[in-house]
Amino acid sequence: MSATRSRLRLQAPAKVNLSLEVTGRRTDGYHEIVSVMQTVGLYDDLVIERSRGIELASSDPTIDTPDNLVLRAARLLQHAAGIELGCSLRLYKRIPVAAGVGGGSSDAAATLIGLNELWSLGWPAERLAGLGAALGSDVPFFVYGGTAVVRGRGEIVEPLPAGASIWYTLVNPGVQVPTARIFSALSSDAWTNGAQTREVAKRIGSAGVFVLGPNGLQDALFSLYPVVKTCFDRLSNLAPGRTFVSGSGPTIVVASKTSDGAAEIQSQVRGEGWRSTIAPSVHQVCGAAGT
Ligand code: C5P
Repeated sequence: MSATRSRLRLQAPAKVNLSLEVTGRRTDGYHEIVSVMQTVGLYDDLVIERSRGIELASSDPTIDTPDNLVLRAARLLQHAAGIELGCSLRLYKRIPVAAGVGGGSSDAAATLIGLNELWSLGWPAERLAGLGAALGSDVPFFVYGGTAVVRGRGEIVEPLPAGASIWYTLVNPGVQVPTARIFSALSSDAWTNGAQTREVAKRIGSAGVFVLGPNGLQDALFSLYPVVKTCFDRLSNLAPGRTFVSGSGPTIVVASKTSDGAAEIQSQVRGEGWRSTIAPSVHQVCGAAGT
C-alpha cells in the first residue's frame, strides 16, 4: 500500500450461491440465512481518483443515481473515518443488475477497499466488512471474496478453503428481480435448518470435490417469474445435478469442470435469446489493480 497513490483501478467480481438456506425471520425484518458463496471471474471495473467532492460516473445510466450503492459506500466511509478527502468514481458495469450475482454489493465493497487505500486509512478487513453490512447484506462477503460460508443476514462471513476450480455458465433469462420481492413472498414453508449448507461448507475444501446445496428462495422466485423456471428446467435437462439458481435470481448457473464444458452449455442455449457468459471461480480478494 502506498500513501501517495492518487488513482486506483479495482475489479469487483460477481458471486454465485452454491447453497442458500433461509432459516427464519428476524425481528429487524430481514431473514436469517446460511449460504456458501463463491466469487466468479465476471467483473465490474471501478476507477477511483482523488477529488474534492464525491462523484460517480457509470457506464450504465440506469444506476447513475444519487443513492447508488457506490456513492453511499464512499460517503459512509468518509463519515465513519471522519475525513474531508473526496474521490471521483468511474464504474464500468459488466455484471447484470438485479440478477442475483451481487454486482451492486461487490461494487460497494470495492469502493470501501479502494478508498481504504486511496485515503490511507489502514482499516482491517473486519472493520470494512462491518461498515459494509450497513449498505447491503452481501457487502461483507465481497470484502473477503473467494469461498465463504455466510450467516446472519449476511454480516457473518467465515472464509473457507478454496474449492475445486470450476467454470460457471451464467444464464440471465432477461428479467430483473428485486431481492426484497422474493424475500417478502417467502412463506415459512421454505425455511430449513441450514444442515445441508453446513455440509456443503464442510466438504467444499476437499481436493477436487464440487458440491451444491439447495436454494430456499427458488420456489418463490419460480412462482413470481415463470420464465426463470423455464430457463432453469431447460438447463437442468442439459446439465442435471449441476444447475442452480444464484441468490434471489434470476441468474441460472451451470457448473462445469472445464471452460470448454461451460462454453458448450452456453452454445446449446444461444438460440433462446437469453444473455449468458462464462466465468471461472476466483479465489483472490477483490483488490486494487495498479495505478
Ligand atoms: O440487504 P439488502 O439491501 O441487499 O437486502 C434487500 C432486501 O432483501 C431487504 O430489504 C430485505 O427485504 C431482504 N433480505 C432479507 N434477508 C436477508 C437479506 C435480504 O429479508 N438476509
